[in-house]
Amino acid sequence: MTLEHVAIFNDGQGLELTWQGGRRARFHAIWLRDNAQDPETRAPGNGQRLITIGDIPADTRLASADIENGTLQLTFAPENKQVVFDQVWLAQHAYDCGHAARAMGWLSDVVVPWTADHQDQLHAAPLTQLQSDTQALQSWLAAVQRDGVAKVTEGPTESGALLQVAGLFGFVRETNYGRWFEVRTEVNPSNLAYTGLGLQAHTDNPYRDPVPTLQILYCLENSAEGGDSLVVDGFAVAQRLKEEDPHGFELLSKYCARFEYAGSDGVRLRSRRPMIELAPDGELIGIRFNNRSTAPIVDVPYDEMQAYYAAYRRFAEIVDDPAMAMAFKLEPGQSFIVDNTRVLHARNGYSGAGSRWLQGCYADKDGLLSTLAALSETRREAAE
Ligand code: FE2
Repeated sequence: MTLEHVAIFNDGQGLELTWQGGRRARFHAIWLRDNAQDPETRAPGNGQRLITIGDIPADTRLASADIENGTLQLTFAPENKQVVFDQVWLAQHAYDCGHAARAMGWLSDVVVPWTADHQDQLHAAPLTQLQSDTQALQSWLAAVQRDGVAKVTEGPTESGALLQVAGLFGFVRETNYGRWFEVRTEVNPSNLAYTGLGLQAHTDNPYRDPVPTLQILYCLENSAEGGDSLVVDGFAVAQRLKEEDPHGFELLSKYCARFEYAGSDGVRLRSRRPMIELAPDGELIGIRFNNRSTAPIVDVPYDEMQAYYAAYRRFAEIVDDPAMAMAFKLEPGQSFIVDNTRVLHARNGYSGAGSRWLQGCYADKDGLLSTLAALSETRREAAE
């Protein structure tokens, strides 16, 4: 990562850097000025930017550029402002690297799609270990980031214990279902989740915007026949649909579906979002799939609706394919967490004999990923 050569071009509006080994990257003067690391531009304590885009002259350009002791020393006109950049920082933040070649539905490097044969690698760790061993916690959080699912074992079998799982990394997202909710057989249930019926694999609460990005399901009793939990990687399903039927994938990502929940007094939750969500640059970022709460879909043109429904059906068939699912029976004191923007969960039907009592709650990925990033940084610094 040693800088070897710098050249200003285009009247100071651009800069080309060459590192040892031949790597090259161009930068814009405006980008470099906006990302200056000096104490007038960035607060030294918290790293927050102290200037707005309007504080940077519109005609910003580079007046000079020199390499000195592993740094790039720049002077910006017309401010006559001098700024120093670290050569490694510049290499890490280079953006001149052909992003345009990415295919629709590309995945972030930290995400690894899986199917049924991943079963043996489903990450699991005892609750007390995760609470006391930061290395174990970091691995577990990284598994949630990578796989979108992980288990916790050997927890207490007392009501509310699931809050300890959320407490490993962040905060519960309270909803109209409460701080947490009970999943057990009920007479006259307000939601089908509270009966003994099997449920098709789904993401939870697609009718919320924003959707809860994590769900924790915690087992307190499970002596009923059946009632196994199933998880399916929605990203793997979407990728398979794209391979089989690129147009179907496009339809489910291009048009919004609608979702709705109105099962309780005073609650009318509605959202308008696609079943397969892509970022504007094609990154696959979210799945919403829930037969119970899909509302009439009215945002697909008439001429495309037949094909849309065919794609929706095929997506559901892939979801239901046992080759896609990992299945396990939760024992009392065990729980699992899913990335609710990616991994679908289900349960097989169970009979009235014995009992099945789970508690569930929602939380959010921002807290989980923040805890993971902070732990990773601390460990990296300790190793250096
Ligand atoms: Fe659910």
